[in-house]
Amino acid sequence: MKVIWKVEGGDEFSADVKAGTTLKDAAMAQNVPYILGECGGSMSCATCHVVVAPDWVAATGAPGEFEDAVLDATEAPRQDNSRLSCQITMRDDLDGLVLIVPAP
Ligand code: FES
Repeated sequence: MKVIWKVEGGDEFSADVKAGTTLKDAAMAQNVPYILGECGGSMSCATCHVVVAPDWVAATGAPGEFEDAVLDATEAPRQDNSRLSCQITMRDDLDGLVLIVPAP
């Protein structure tokens, strides 16, 4: 299943991502800039910040309460569709997902 990362002011990356893989891990495997995943996915670093493209917001859903709080600590200011990519796991209905990577 395909995922596309569009880095603000930079390159575009795409990868085939297996179901069950977090989109933080998938981005790090592609060396997508600014996706550092410093806490390993435990929702404490906010260095896996992405903005979900508008067409995909319904499929990815809204952040949970704790994720929403952590999003206040992102280096690039959070936006309406911001998510922590460690909290999105690849699944069939996300095939073709587009994520924007905000530059700090
Ligand atoms: Fe740290 Fe997602 S990897 S919050």
